[in-house]
Amino acid sequence: MDSAYALNEEKELLRERVVGMANLSTIPITLKHVLEVVENENSSTSDLVKVVEQDQSLATKVLAVANSAFYGYGGRVKSISQAAVILGFNMVRNLAISVSLFDTTDKKAAKFLTGLWRHSFEVASVSALLADRTGLGRKDNAFLAGLISDIGRVILYQIFESEYLDVYGDGGEGVLEREVAAFGATHSEVGAWFAEGFRFQKECSLTIEEHHCPEKLLSSIRSGSHPLVALVYLADVIVSEQKSGSAVDIIISPEHDAIMEAVYLDPESMAEVRAEYLEMANSINSIF
Ligand SMILES: [Fe+2]
Repeated sequence: MDSAYALNEEKELLRERVVGMANLSTIPITLKHVLEVVENENSSTSDLVKVVEQDQSLATKVLAVANSAFYGYGGRVKSISQAAVILGFNMVRNLAISVSLFDTTDKKAAKFLTGLWRHSFEVASVSALLADRTGLGRKDNAFLAGLISDIGRVILYQIFESEYLDVYGDGGEGVLEREVAAFGATHSEVGAWFAEGFRFQKECSLTIEEHHCPEKLLSSIRSGSHPLVALVYLADVIVSEQKSGSAVDIIISPEHDAIMEAVYLDPESMAEVRAEYLEMANSINSIF
């Protein structure tokens, strides 16, 4: 069989599996409950609140988002129903779907997924800071797009388990090529299929798909479209340059400077956002 044909077939099979995830018997139980509520047109926000409240780890994560620095309620949101008022039904829906994927009872998985959840939360916070500073894109959309930019890594892990950890290694240059060779697709593609399958906004799935190659959209970013792709990419760079290890996910674009310019950021303003992020790190530390 032709190798390109075999690769396409492998990719298509993986795509069907990801898009059909809602029907898989292996998805986390909380995700199943969340989907039952959000797929039922008769359910209300209070039904969703009940499901979130029943899962301690999901509830903690939703409260962490509601209390994150950019929403400005700093630690004062105490209940999921309060959080639902602040975040809105759609945000809680999307958070509940994404965040329940990080749920696991397996110890080895917990180490990987907790590290990735923290990294995602930091990228989300910096994406929101950048949206605020540039005035491009809504802060809550930027936060959500940042939070789930690496959801494809969680899904590949849920499907392939330790094989995915071996392929991912320490991330960095070459990770996308290794993912394609092993699974037929990158974590960016897998994440975008997931977002489409679960009907997240188009902008969100596009951001996930291109968060490692924003240069592909450079001309539209320059003309004011798809700013989130650039903001989440830059947030990833700011967060990842402070770290090492398997939570890191940094690939510097060959058009890095042009992308900064396209969203009106110069090295000084990037340094200021980096300083804001480091200041925020204390409150993020208290969550993890
Ligand atoms: Fe990534």
